[in-house]
Amino acid sequence: MSRATATDLVYLIAIIGFIFALVGLSSPKHARRGNQLGALGMLLAVAWTFSLPAVYSSTRNLTLIVIAVVVGTVIGVPAARLVKMTAMPQMVAIFNGVGGGAAALVSVTEFIALGHGSIAVYKICEILFGVLVGSVSFAGSAIAFAKLQELMTGRPITYPAQQPINAALGLAILVLVVVTIATASTAVLVVVLLLSLVLGIIFVLPVGGADTPVLISLLNAFTGLAVAASGFTLNSNLLIVAGTLVGASGTLLTRLMSVAMGRSLSNILFSAFGSVITATGGTDADGRSVRSGTPQDVGVLLAYARKVAIVPGYGLAVAQGQHAARELADALEARGVKVFYAIHPVAGRMPGHMNVLLAEANVPYDELEEMDQANGELPTTDVALVVGANDTVNPAAENTPGSPIYGMPIIHANEAANVVVMKRSMRPGFAGIDNELLFDTKTTMLFGDAKDTLVKLVAAVKSA
Ligand code: TAP
Repeated sequence: MSRATATDLVYLIAIIGFIFALVGLSSPKHARRGNQLGALGMLLAVAWTFSLPAVYSSTRNLTLIVIAVVVGTVIGVPAARLVKMTAMPQMVAIFNGVGGGAAALVSVTEFIALGHGSIAVYKICEILFGVLVGSVSFAGSAIAFAKLQELMTGRPITYPAQQPINAALGLAILVLVVVTIATASTAVLVVVLLLSLVLGIIFVLPVGGADTPVLISLLNAFTGLAVAASGFTLNSNLLIVAGTLVGASGTLLTRLMSVAMGRSLSNILFSAFGSVITATGGTDADGRSVRSGTPQDVGVLLAYARKVAIVPGYGLAVAQGQHAARELADALEARGVKVFYAIHPVAGRMPGHMNVLLAEANVPYDELEEMDQANGELPTTDVALVVGANDTVNPAAENTPGSPIYGMPIIHANEAANVVVMKRSMRPGFAGIDNELLFDTKTTMLFGDAKDTLVKLVAAVKSA
């Protein structure tokens, strides 16, 4: 077998690994195995690349690649190990951004290496696509990282004539793209790269901090497409398929997240959502006030219930209360109470956030119920214990046309016989709006940090 055939075969095996990785990642049960398969495929592809003559026969190439691998490993491994679960979106943003930046640089390098006059038009188009999309992804991801890491304001940044300015920049880039195709000029290509970086920045500025995870998923899709384009430029099937997989899965994820939030992608990208906070204090527009309880009262309510739904949200992740939630469920189950977790698809701040969080505490998968299944059970549930969730249980999504979350499917916590809402204050959730569930006559508020309160609830249930 020739080396070229062997290379194709090894890369095909790696590609199969990537595809099975995606299959595994589609369910919490197989996610770990999926991740391992993807990593194995990548290891195989990288290791085989070292056996290619273009790499091992050039000391310069080999040295540069080894330096890049060492730098990547030294930064990437500790960063991935030390990152907090709530900081995962910005981690994904920055990793994604460097992928886009790398694809753009590969395209520029290949443009220079191919020599000016002799490049075919289709090659220039591939290169331009990699440069444009990769640069937008790099700069956009860097701003998304800065927003989520609170290095700059997380609120949408708007300024007069924002859309026309974006459109004018887009048009200028388009013109320069045509000029690059016509002249094959490196200088013009570099200007396209610089303007694409600016486009990436101004594209992300008006997106609100907590909408940024959706944006990151979109930028992730962009990076995949840029990588696929550099795969065409380098004649690498591996890069083409890997890039396309990332592009397709990023696009699907972006769509799923938008649907689960009940918003269109254009609304997420262009509406500057979250710039206004409307919710206020402990009374609603009709002057109704909330009823608050103590962990002891709620402990008794839970201990004598038949069925309890735990509805986790972003606050559970902030409080890192997942282990205490599991202990509470164990204490209740020891008394014969049926417990299930009602999981909203966009609870938290990233896809699968609650699944990952609860898996950390070894919550059995069969106790996790997806929204539709949980909603079927809630009318026969004695207590819905809402832990740090807010928008995802807000009835305004169903009964207040005009509300920013109107149309988003919600967990029907309000259909349980009793509702207990655990949060620290009357501050709103991500959407910045009042939640009438807190004012419902069957709702008891349990104010405080979710983890502290859960620990108190465990003690109260055990002594009931
Ligand atoms: P949110 O509506 O954001 O509400 C979280 C609540 O947790 C807040 O009201 C906050 O109230 C409370 N909280 C924060 N820290 C706490 C702590 N230490 N202890 C107790 N409570 C705490 O959460 P949700 O219901 O999970 O909804 C998620 C929102 O994010 C949705 O609007 C969704 O559209 C959006 N979003 C989700 C995603 C994905 S993919 N998951 C991506 C982008 C946006 P206090 O401050 O009063 O404690």
